[in-house]
Parts: sequence; structure tokens; C-alpha cells
Amino acid sequence: MTTELETELLTAVERRRNFAIISHPDAGKTTLTEKLLLYGGAIHEAGSVKARRAQRHATSDWMAMEQQRGISITSTVLQFEYQNYHINLLDTPGHQDFSEDTYRTLAAADNAVMLEDAAKGLEPQTRKLFEVCKLRSLPIFTFFNKLDRPSREPLDLLDEIEKELGLQTYPVNWPIGTGDRFKGVFDRRGRKIHLFERTKHGSRAAVDTVIELGDPRIEDLLEQDLYYQLKEELELLDELGTELDLDLVRAGKMTPVFFGSAMSNFGVELFLDAFLDYAMKPIARKSSAGDLPPTYEDFTGFVFKLQANMDPRHRDRVAFIRVCTGKFEKDMNVTHARSGKTVRLSRPQKLFAQDRESIEVAYPGDVIGLNNPGVFAIGDTIYTGQKLEYEGIPCFSPELFAFLRNPNPSKFKQFRKGVSELQEEGAVQIMYSVDESKREPILAAVGQLQFEVVQFRMQSEYNVETTIDMLPYSVARWVDGGWEALEKVGRLFNTVTVKDTWGRPVLLFRNEWNCRQVEGEHPVLKLNAIAPVVS
Ligand code: G4P
Repeated sequence: MTTELETELLTAVERRRNFAIISHPDAGKTTLTEKLLLYGGAIHEAGSVKARRAQRHATSDWMAMEQQRGISITSTVLQFEYQNYHINLLDTPGHQDFSEDTYRTLAAADNAVMLEDAAKGLEPQTRKLFEVCKLRSLPIFTFFNKLDRPSREPLDLLDEIEKELGLQTYPVNWPIGTGDRFKGVFDRRGRKIHLFERTKHGSRAAVDTVIELGDPRIEDLLEQDLYYQLKEELELLDELGTELDLDLVRAGKMTPVFFGSAMSNFGVELFLDAFLDYAMKPIARKSSAGDLPPTYEDFTGFVFKLQANMDPRHRDRVAFIRVCTGKFEKDMNVTHARSGKTVRLSRPQKLFAQDRESIEVAYPGDVIGLNNPGVFAIGDTIYTGQKLEYEGIPCFSPELFAFLRNPNPSKFKQFRKGVSELQEEGAVQIMYSVDESKREPILAAVGQLQFEVVQFRMQSEYNVETTIDMLPYSVARWVDGGWEALEKVGRLFNTVTVKDTWGRPVLLFRNEWNCRQVEGEHPVLKLNAIAPVVS
């Protein structure tokens, strides 16, 4: 028999779509986000998200602002309603605040939108983020942006995705010309042409002029050569015969592809409509108690991000929790799986841009922010009912390494405590040299900001002034089979071995090239850029 709660959960889950955008800086993530929010009616004038981004341009400004405002300039989830869907857009920090959080956010996402600049194609940050999506088999939707500028050949762009990411592609729409001659897209779903009209920065939802393929005006509107080129390309696509297979999309093996111009607000609505039809709603997640469907009636969730308050007068943190099952209600008591303690979830916040709104209820697929008096760490599960735990969030290959030193021996205890607490919380990864004489911790981070945050918090929370000595490495790899496997291959060149918090060997390289060289010389050695956490 279906209970009232089950019906409520079913309805909520049907409506929910949750996604993150993966892209390289400058591809247009801020612009696209803004346009999506415009359609959702969540903002009324384009420009507000951008203004916020510009405000937090420099790292030092970010720090100063965090201190001033108390907390949370960085938005974490943008929520909006569109055509009866309840959409959660998880913000993946980029640019200066690119950090392990960027990867971790993907652990809370059900879908990813891969945004590429159509003139550039795949870029390094997108590839790295893609690897994380692949690990979870997330459905990926590709949006090629900036078609109003000269772009690469669409077939060439698709080929790159197929060859380099191993993803099948299915173009849902197809561009007609690029740059000054960009005329619009052919929507293969509705089999109609959507004409591009240049508007000033697309501050409103664009007027979409739609014509049929057989419309007599078509040759004039498109210019003859572009019309014939389009016909040829469409025939070619039909000949290739790839069908859109939603099972493959939802298994992360095929990506529906869209073309447009976020800045001119062209193609964004077409994308959003198709995306909502194809995207995956919140589904069952793996836990120690088996796969739990979102309609499982007890509330469960996990922490994917912690944000520390930079103001020493307010030491609270915000823990961001992805709701996985059941219904979240304000002030409910839950069990914190790692400690076994009961925690009351008071003062929950839903974050939209800068406004922190208090929320009363949340459903699977939603994200809530909780004031965290130091209980939570990244990957922690909270639950009601039966004891269970979700899989932890893995460690991602750091790219910056530095010794963290404490020049003042009388602060030894505080230093050790700070390092261990910040590591446990997930602010940074800590590694150690295998050389026993070098006892200082090595900070290993994905972004520079993580170092600054660690130093800042060591000072403000533990009262220890620290110094940083950068190390000349940029790639870390965990070794399958651990120390035993490493011993078998004997001496390795152009790499140093360190150990992570769990004593596992990690190889550090100066660059990707050195890493590939070692892999080439020792094919038996299996190196991983991502490693599971040890519970
Ligand atoms: P990001 O968050 O991914 O880093 O990118 P963002 O949206 O900030 O966009 C980066 C630059 O690309 C911006 O230009 C933005 O206006 C531009 N852009 C975004 N989408 C499009 C598009 O569809 N077509 C064209 N031609 N440009 C686009 P900027 O010069 O850095 O800023 P602004 O002066 O335009 O504000």
C-alpha cells in the first residue's frame, strides 16, 4: 500500500532535476547559468550573476569579503522552477576558487552539462571534470557555446568527444553557419529551423523565429550555400543513423549535443526543454544497506562540501548536504553515522545567490546548508531509521604541493591539532614524505585557494602562524596494489613517492609527461588519479 509520505516523495522526485555544469574558465558558465535562471524567472535581469562573479575576482578580495559578510559569498546551489520542474543547479567553483570542492560537487549531482567553447572544443579543466563524471556514470549533456563567433566544424567537435572521451554523441540540434554567418540551428526534435537574431547581449529571453524545413523563404533567409550545406549535413547525420538512446544517455555513454550562444540567449531554451525531458531524476544510491531509492521513507543524505566561516568571531561552518531519500524537515533529529551521535538539524538554509533563506522541508535531489558546529566532515552520512552509510567521496589528484611549516616549536601541539582537523574535515589533503627525517606535512591541493584557506584558518582558529614551501610537482597518482606493487617494479625515475593520510603510496610527478613516461616504462604499474577514501 502506498503511504501518504510515499506519494509525496514520488511527486517531489518526479519534478526534480539536479545538475552541475562542467567547463573550462571562459567557456561561458556564468553566462549560461544566468540565462537559465532567466528562464526560470529566478532573476529578472541578466547581469546579476556576472556582477557577483566580478566582485569576487581576486582571491584576496574573496577573503576580505568572506570576513566582512561573515559567510558564503560562493553560491552552492541555485534553485529554480521551470515548467513544473524543480531544478537544482549545483555550482561548481571555478577560476580562483577551483578546489577539491569543484570535484566533490559532482558527487551530489545527478546530471552534468558539459559546456564547451565551440571555437576551442575540449579544454583541460573540462577533461578533468569529465573523468569525475565518468566515475559515477553521470549522464552528460553537451552545449557548444559561442556559435556567434567563428567556430570549429561541428563534425570535428563531435569527433573529438567520441575519440577522446569515448562518449557517443547525438546532436539534438545542428548549427547553421558560425560567426558572422551564424543563422541559427536546426532542431532535430521538432524538425524545424530556429533563426538566430542578434540581440544586445540577450538580456531578455530571445525572440525565437521558427520556420519549417520546407518553407519557401528558406533559401533567402539562410543564404543559398548555407542552406545546401545544412541539407547535406542533415542527410549525413541521418545516414550515420545514430538514434538517441536514453538508456545510453542515462548510463553516461551517449551525450545529447546542443549548439547555441549563451550570451545572445540563443539555443538556451531549446536546450533547457530537451534537457528536462532527457535528464535523470534523482535515483537510487548505493549505501551500506543496499541501493536506496529516493522514495525510501526515512530521511538520509550526505555531506559533500563544508564552508568555513572566515570570520574568527563566528566560527561556524556550513555543511552542504545532498538529500538522498525521504523528507527533510527543519529541526529533525538525525544520526550522524561516523560518530553515532544524534544531531538536531536546526537553522537549515537553502542558498540562492547571496540570500540565505531558511527552509522548512527538502526532498531527494535538493541540497540544504546546515550550520555545522564542527560535527561534519566531507562524505559523512546522516540518517533516520536503520543504520547505514553512503560511499565516501574519493580523493582527487591534487595539483599543488607544499610543505606546511610551523616555525614556532612552542606551538607544536596546536599545529598538529589544526593539521589533523583540517585534513579530517576535507579542507586539504595531507601527505607525508617517506623519509622519516622530514616530518612536516605536505599540503596537497587542487587549487591555490585551499592553501590560503588552510593558512588563514591555522592562524585564526588554532593561533599558529605557518609558512609554506612550494614543491615542484603538479601530478599525483595512487598505485594499484600499494607498496607491494611498487616494490615489484623497483626504482622509478622522475618521480618521488610520498604517503597519504592512510599510509598509501602516492607518486608525485613534475608534469603529465613524466607521469606518462613512468607508465610507459612500467606497464604493470597501474596508476590512478582518483582514490577511494578509507573509512
Ligand atoms: P565562465 O563563467 O565560464 O568563465 O565564462 P563567462 O560566462 O564569464 O564568459 C566568458 C566570456 O565569454 C565573457 O566575455 C562572456 O561575455 C563571453 N561569452 C559567453 N557566452 C558567449 C557567447 O555565446 N558568445 C560570445 N561571443 N561570447 C560569450 P568577457 O569579455 O570576459 O566579459 P563581458 O565583457 O562580455 O562581460
